Amino acid sequence: MFVLLLLFFLRPAESATTNTTLSCVDDQGNAVDWFYIYKLPHPHEQPPEEGLKYLLLEEHNKAWMEGGGLIGDSTGALGRSLGPMYEEGELGYILYNDQPPEQRGVNGANRSGGHTKGVVLFNSRQGFWLVHSTPHFPPPKTVGKFSYPSSGINNGQNFICVTYPLERFNTIGEQLKINQPHVYDCEIPESLATSVPSMVELCKHQHGWNNFTATDGSFSTPNRSVSLLSLAGTKFISFAKGATFDNDLYHSWVAPTLETDLLVQFWRRSTGILPSDCSPSWKVLNVHLLSPGGLVTFKTTEDHSKWAASLGGGGARGGAWVCVGDINRNEAEEKRGGGTVCQQDAAVWKAYRAAALQCDSCTGEVDECESAPM
Ligand SMILES: *[C@@H]1O[C@H](CO)[C@@H](O)[C@H](O)[C@H]1NC(C)=O
Ligand SMILES: *[C@@H]1O[C@H](CO)[C@@H](O)[C@H](O)[C@H]1NC(C)=O
Ligand SMILES: *[C@@H]1O[C@H](CO)[C@@H](O)[C@H](O)[C@H]1NC(C)=O
Ligand SMILES: *[C@@H]1O[C@H](CO)[C@@H](O)[C@H](O)[C@H]1NC(C)=O
Repeated sequence: MFVLLLLFFLRPAESATTNTTLSCVDDQGNAVDWFYIYKLPHPHEQPPEEGLKYLLLEEHNKAWMEGGGLIGDSTGALGRSLGPMYEEGELGYILYNDQPPEQRGVNGANRSGGHTKGVVLFNSRQGFWLVHSTPHFPPPKTVGKFSYPSSGINNGQNFICVTYPLERFNTIGEQLKINQPHVYDCEIPESLATSVPSMVELCKHQHGWNNFTATDGSFSTPNRSVSLLSLAGTKFISFAKGATFDNDLYHSWVAPTLETDLLVQFWRRSTGILPSDCSPSWKVLNVHLLSPGGLVTFKTTEDHSKWAASLGGGGARGGAWVCVGDINRNEAEEKRGGGTVCQQDAAVWKAYRAAALQCDSCTGEVDECESAPM
């Protein structure tokens, strides 16, 4: 009896999240190696809930499936994945966003750091890296629970979540350092610090990158791509660029590296939009009209997502790549940190490629997106 009582009282001290399988989680609560979420835009003249619907694409169901609820539900994939961050435990986390939650209502993003948004969450074994496009998301840990901001309702948004073993997080931190993100909340417990020195550095520079660039030579790295093997061994490629890169991420780097023509969806309501680029070597065409999963159709002006898909799904020129990330095709973002995470998977490619209905063509018209490389 005494032992049972002792165990009972000791139990809460033993953190729930210290050694559990921290990972991306689907709508049903299953740990998954990776998922993609397409938060759909709010259709005009419909109740706000319609702007909280989403599609989920994950390893076990490689097609867009309607989300089990709304994007802000704590029982949905996003809420379940981020939930442990708001609990007690020996967890390392970094929340970064050029439009952080505390600046809600302030018009305009912070123009000094990277144009990049995401969450890193890990424990002594594993965790995940979530890259997304939603302003003012997610709430800092002190808020105590997961929620989705009203500022993320109107437009389409994308999320890519990948589960990685602890060993991968130092490399992820190095990629983030190149991006110079605006870190608005973070904590790296002492017990994890030696495994992830890059994350420790990122966390030190919460709210302040300007000094760092001047004092640390490694921050002048203009860009780096690395392969990241997920916990289950799936290969992802992270492309990270800094402010000094000063070129279009997609045409100058991603397309030639992956050896593929790309269709790119990005936020259009800004100045200095880059036109489609049909110059050598690989062409990059802007998407105009979208319909992920074929459920609803919307214009790119209602979609804040930043993703790219190979024009073709295979053949001699490779293909079947999908990249989800931070960077729009505009002049200002050539000079901002940010990146994209890519995966080569036929089913994921099909889901994204089929979402692009109308695109630029190399002759200058907007037309049905080109279906195969010439
Ligand atoms: C958690 O896992 C680590 C590494 O596997 C181990 O060293 C540690 O003792 C575990 N902690 C608890 C509380 O189970
Ligand atoms: C930036 O530099 C100033 C002056 O050297 C120093 O006081 C401040 O703490 C530094 N900030 C960061 C975030 O390193
Ligand atoms: C923008 O970010 C920089 C560095 O992270 C910080 O010093 C500055 O106060 C921020 N500006 C606003 C308006 O938040
Ligand atoms: C940086 O980008 C250029 C293309 O702009 C590419 O040729 C080069 O290999 C990249 N560097 C790294 C380290 O990935």
